Amino acid sequence: MARVVISEFMDERAVARLAARHDVLYDPSLVDDPASLKLAAAGVDAIIVRNRTQVRGALVSSLARGAVVGRLGVGLDNIDLEACAARGIAVVPATGANALAVAEYVIATAMLLLRGAYRSTEEVAAGGWPRQALGNGREIGARTLGLIGFGSIGRHTARLARGVGMGVVATDAMLEASDPAFAEANVTAVGLDELLATSDVVSLHVPLLASTCGLMDAARIAAMKPGAVLINTARGGIVDEAAVAGALRSGHLGGAALDVFEHEPLAADHAFAGCPNLLLTPHIAGVTAEANERVSLLIADKVLEALA
Ligand SMILES: NC(=O)c1ccc[n+]([C@@H]2O[C@H](COP(=O)([O-])OP(=O)(O)OC[C@H]3O[C@@H](n4cnc5c(N)ncnc54)[C@H](O)[C@@H]3O)[C@@H](O)[C@H]2O)c1
Repeated sequence: MARVVISEFMDERAVARLAARHDVLYDPSLVDDPASLKLAAAGVDAIIVRNRTQVRGALVSSLARGAVVGRLGVGLDNIDLEACAARGIAVVPATGANALAVAEYVIATAMLLLRGAYRSTEEVAAGGWPRQALGNGREIGARTLGLIGFGSIGRHTARLARGVGMGVVATDAMLEASDPAFAEANVTAVGLDELLATSDVVSLHVPLLASTCGLMDAARIAAMKPGAVLINTARGGIVDEAAVAGALRSGHLGGAALDVFEHEPLAADHAFAGCPNLLLTPHIAGVTAEANERVSLLIADKVLEALA
């Protein structure tokens, strides 16, 4: 029987599936108590985390050699992959299992921000009738979506966007424009400059790497179409938050939805106070009831396989 520690929330059916075969400690509060986590993880054969547990330094050294790290999600920027490889520790992500949840978040926030008509509840309930003010909302149908990153989530998002009548362009550092993935999805491959200049909605779907850190800086935000909407569900650090706030205030950006931030939760001196047409969510784009179940069961099975 192997020892398994789970330091962040996981679907209970998946926890039970692991506990039927192994000695499992499931304590989602461990992520906020690094000292207890290090003690609990000493010598374990598997650790299962989401994106908040920092799997690096002393925590990696405390795991058994040849252990497995299950990641309840896909971004691996909270895991020191080199340190894990040096100890023969395998890292298994839940590739694809939350892609639909993120794709739906992108289409939903794009519609909300383009239309701009859904924030009148209080005024209407109070007897107001702001019909004139809200009558200039934009339809999503004939608009262009620009996807930066055309991997698992980018492709799911393209499919939904085509379904609501959008044209889709995409850029991906690892794919040639001739890659069949673009044509199969009815998506036009373009360079980043063209994407920024032509897209009504720009959505980020790249991992946080040295090459993507600061990718959407002030100059690239300025190069977006006036009135365009920016959506970041990828990772904080990829978008310059102060530049987004400035572009919303100046009216250059027509809206923004940000799910991920450089500091999560936001620091007290964050840049967004008073920004118009801004949706802020707490790193939730990939988390729905269904995605949590899919991600959790997939990781339970992959960890069981690795421990077999
Ligand atoms: N907010 C959330 O809840 C949530 C949930 C899931 C994933 N994510 C984030 O979304 C990211 C993408 O997820 P995915 O499953 O689509 O990953 P993926 O690996 O399937 O696709 C990422 C794509 O980005 C491309 N890429 C890398 N660098 C690039 C660059 N500089 N320019 C253009 N393309 C580049 C890669 O070639 C790849 O095709 C994850 O790394 C994670 O950080 C967030």
